Amino acid sequence: MPSHDYWLERWREQRIAFHEPGGNGALRRHWPWRGKRVLVPFCGKATDLRWLAELGNEVVGVELAESAARDFFAEQELDHTITDGPLPAYRGTEVPIVIHVGDYFAFDGPLDGRRCDALYDRAALVAVPGGERARYIEHTKNLLTSDANRLVITFCYDQGAAVGPPFAVPDDEVRGYWSDLTRLEAYCVLEQGPPKFRAAGLSELLETVWRSPT
Ligand SMILES: C[S@@+](CC[C@H](N)C(=O)[O-])C[C@H]1O[C@@H](n2cnc3c(N)ncnc32)[C@H](O)[C@@H]1O
Repeated sequence: MPSHDYWLERWREQRIAFHEPGGNGALRRHWPWRGKRVLVPFCGKATDLRWLAELGNEVVGVELAESAARDFFAEQELDHTITDGPLPAYRGTEVPIVIHVGDYFAFDGPLDGRRCDALYDRAALVAVPGGERARYIEHTKNLLTSDANRLVITFCYDQGAAVGPPFAVPDDEVRGYWSDLTRLEAYCVLEQGPPKFRAAGLSELLETVWRSPT
């Protein structure tokens, strides 16, 4: 697992090319759900949090880097409060968005005890190396209702030729974690992806979009 220091240093140095200022296109194409409590693990400062909230969802993000939570509310010009707790909570005052700051594996769920009934996983599962992914999935399932709606976006490439993160998560592995997901689309993002993949001589970097039944 890339250490906490690895990620915190990336945020300190603003090496955050994974951040999509305009939001994620697949989310906008394929997310049909409203009125959900959406878990967003490893949420960074994704503008997708706002998009999900504006669609009528309540958003529960979890992010290691406090600066990401701070930047999210500052850049979105959204007032917020900060509540102390095992994981400090940055909570929008006018939008139903909360970002819990700390280690995802230490996050026990929203304080009211009600589980999330939807999941948006973009650049989260793929940020976890192979040996830790089963634990990540088990923890995520524990935070969700059994019938939670899910949109999951993964990467696939020749893991032998380049190092993560993002790590390659083969389709069969995704199906092993979430057997009811449908593979909606896959497209090559080698040109837009991290330069290290082109430098490694990869010929393909596939982004794949998975969704639970609607
Ligand atoms: C590749 S980025 C993706 C961010 C976001 N999902 C997006 O789409 O922009 C992975 C994020 O996970 C965070 N992270 C890594 N390990 C974490 C952990 N154990 N708990 C919470 N967040 C973590 C990092 O700080 C980083 O912001």
